[in-house]
Amino acid sequence: MIERENNTSAEQFNTLPPSCPVMAPLVEKKQETPRMLSLLFEIPDVNQPSFLPFNNRPGQFVMVWIPGMNEKPFVISYLSRAGFGITVMVRGDFSRRLAELKEGQKVGFRGPFGRGFSQYNEIPRERIAMVGGGCGMAPLSLLAESLPGASLIQGAPSEKDILYLDRFPNQIVFTEDGSCGMEGLPTDWLKGYVASDFDMIYTCGPEPMMKSILQICRKNNISCQVALERYMKCGIGVCGQCECDGYLVCKDGPVFSDSELLNMPSFGNKKRDAAGQSVSISSQASSKTSCKTN
Ligand SMILES: Cc1cc2nc3c(=O)[nH]c(=O)nc-3n(C[C@H](O)[C@H](O)[C@H](O)COP(=O)(O)OP(=O)(O)OC[C@H]3O[C@@H](n4cnc5c(N)ncnc54)[C@H](O)[C@@H]3O)c2cc1C
Ligand code: FES
Repeated sequence: MIERENNTSAEQFNTLPPSCPVMAPLVEKKQETPRMLSLLFEIPDVNQPSFLPFNNRPGQFVMVWIPGMNEKPFVISYLSRAGFGITVMVRGDFSRRLAELKEGQKVGFRGPFGRGFSQYNEIPRERIAMVGGGCGMAPLSLLAESLPGASLIQGAPSEKDILYLDRFPNQIVFTEDGSCGMEGLPTDWLKGYVASDFDMIYTCGPEPMMKSILQICRKNNISCQVALERYMKCGIGVCGQCECDGYLVCKDGPVFSDSELLNMPSFGNKKRDAAGQSVSISSQASSKTSCKTN
């Protein structure tokens, strides 16, 4: 039997093919609310082109791979030289497995992908608002860190569901049951104040809430950027699963501007499920469907 020559060197494995997930170990778990937790990971080798966390722009996403299971999109919600993190709402099998990870266990990452929020230096910070609900607060958290002085507004069903209160103690909070902050929905409050107070609103959360914010912005001539969530499989514009009115949400979005949303009749109305079937989105502006579930 002829032995294969073993002439591989360690250097040959230094760079994985660009599409391979890069594994990172979990270093810390932080329970944020009863249903949401943040998972903090060690930064893996920064020379791997398939995962470059420091290239991340708020609003972009990464594909998270659980070996032997699946790969799904999440946004980076914590990022520093010490590590990076994602905030997960436990909803089904995949998110439950993420929540059950133990310190030291590794999952894979690819990305960041897609188009994030655009920021404009000419807009004064005090004229900018970010409005989020549920895990929609995750992409807004890094944006808020890059825009100190802008208003961060969060809507939640109840006090126990509020995210990142210790991280952003100055945020404006609305709860539907009045248990914390102001009672009601951020959209009701914005209807009354937004016209004179803001020039730009960034939003991520339940789609009916975002649709309502877009309508308020249009009426008051305010710029708006919306982070959409659509079912994703490849995350890189190949499979077509995330198609929405001719746009590929993973590539053309997930952040869309007010003028682009004008050409998207499905916004706030319809999305595709895992099988690619069109399903309607419930129209309540409440933050209870806090991760834009169907
Ligand atoms: C760009 C983007 C960023 C996201 N960021 C976050 C985040 O930071 N934190 C977070 O908790 N969730 C995030 N999500 C949603 C997250 O990917 C899904 O909630 C998660 O995959 C649920 O999987 P599951 O098996 O636990 O639940 P399932 O029971 O399979 O699904 C529950 C719901 O999650 C949604 N979903 C499931 N799989 C996908 C998928 N492959 N792509 C998109 N939506 C899916 C569907 O609406 C479904 O109804 C993001 C989604 C997108 C598109
Ligand atoms: S998820 Fe495959 S094209 Fe967008």
